[in-house]
Amino acid sequence: MKRTASLALLSLLALPLAAAEPPKRSAAWEANCTVCHGDDGRSQTEEGLKKRARNLADPKWQASVSDGRLESSIKRGHDRMPAFGRKLSGEQVKALVAEIRGLVKPGS
Ligand code: HEC
Repeated sequence: MKRTASLALLSLLALPLAAAEPPKRSAAWEANCTVCHGDDGRSQTEEGLKKRARNLADPKWQASVSDGRLESSIKRGHDRMPAFGRKLSGEQVKALVAEIRGLVKPGS
């Protein structure tokens, strides 16, 4: 009985550690976006640097763009970023926009 209780306590303590790990990206992100924007959205990958992809996790930039603008950039492309409107459904694009919003940590 005692042992069960301490095991439960241990797993509770482990929870915040798991939450502190970098967030995993969705399958659609991994398949289409990671090559340039990386898993953290900061675009420090070889392709991202070559194409000068922006830091999508920059809170100042995020505050300056609307969801509609992000959606249309993903669908139609933007400068050297390719268009994904034929490859991804509207729902997938919306989910990716939400994922980009999630890159900004609260308070940063
Ligand atoms: C071949 C490299 C490449 C891939 C793949 C790529 N991007 Fe980009 N992305 C770029 C570049 C380069 C820019 C910078 C263009 C700009 O804003 O001037 C950019 C900019 C953006 C922007 C900002 C556009 C704006 O309106 O300012 C968003 C949002 C974005 N990418 C999302 C995505 C998502 C989501 C995916 C996957 C579906 C993706 N990108 C895949 C290269 C890429």
